[in-house]
Amino acid sequence: MATMRDVARLARVSITTVSHVINGTRFVSPDLRARVLEAMGLLRYRPNMLARSLRLKQSRIIGLLVPDNMNPFFAQLSRVVEDSGFAAGYSVILCNSDGKLEKEQAYIELLAAKQVDGIILIATGGDDQIIELLCQTGVPFIMADRRPGTAKVDMVLVDNFGGGYRATRHLLGLGHRRVACIAGPHEAAPSADRVGGYRAALQEVGIEPDEALVVRGDFLRHGGAEAMCQLLELAEPPTAVFACNDLMAIGALSTLSERGLRVPADVLLVGFDDIPDARLTSPPLTTVAQPIEEIGRRATEMLLERVTSKEPIPHRRLLLDVALVERGTCAPRET
Ligand code: RIB
Repeated sequence: MATMRDVARLARVSITTVSHVINGTRFVSPDLRARVLEAMGLLRYRPNMLARSLRLKQSRIIGLLVPDNMNPFFAQLSRVVEDSGFAAGYSVILCNSDGKLEKEQAYIELLAAKQVDGIILIATGGDDQIIELLCQTGVPFIMADRRPGTAKVDMVLVDNFGGGYRATRHLLGLGHRRVACIAGPHEAAPSADRVGGYRAALQEVGIEPDEALVVRGDFLRHGGAEAMCQLLELAEPPTAVFACNDLMAIGALSTLSERGLRVPADVLLVGFDDIPDARLTSPPLTTVAQPIEEIGRRATEMLLERVTSKEPIPHRRLLLDVALVERGTCAPRET
């Protein structure tokens, strides 16, 4: 395998010049740069990035850990992180924890072993163990989307409680009182906060939440469809439903359609996230939009500030707002 020395000899330059071309550590004239790049191509030379990262104590790589890379919310978020990282001169390693703590731990250990410069974590839910592990690795990190328990760490979150509250107030404002909630996985903090906002909105108008109207989903389409079946089997089914994410709302929509129930004439529906598919359902989904682009961009910026800072930085907690986007799955109650 060709070495830097072979490249220097073929390009008729010093090894130092080859190093400056590879690492961008000093200006090299276009003529010399072209000779070095041509020699690297002819010799099929590949710089040993691991050796470089050990020598420079930086790999220019960041890790991103998400619970479900198939979910359009995480897919879009990953895309923004990759774009932001690349623009700053970093590569991104995307890891999928499948919502499993042991897989999440394994990936954190792998990323640390690969000498990544930093990690953006969207936690599965076992926060204390994960944060302890991350601190042991010494790799700078930031948490996004899912707040940790009590740990003081960098985080970028959205107002999940406010989003659940606004979704529910919207349904109440359209004249409905039998308002149900399809919750996400019990370990996902955003879902718990959204359900909290749902309950607060009901209590604010004097409605005592009926536990039969709060059913557990899994943040997936199938879980939303099953949860909607449970709600329709109640003696008094709801006339309005708030689903804690769009995929479950889309699943609920399919159940309503199979049962011949019209949306919004028979049942109103609101989701959460505003993934691209939310505009394409029939009717288009009213939902609580998360600023997915801003979450990804700010998380990457905050991480890289910490990675590149020569001075210690106090931990920061950024809370972004959400917005209700009204579409076709909600309409005023026919009087
Ligand atoms: O759709 C996936 C959900 O999990 C989103 O609402 C996001 O907030 C994440 O927590």
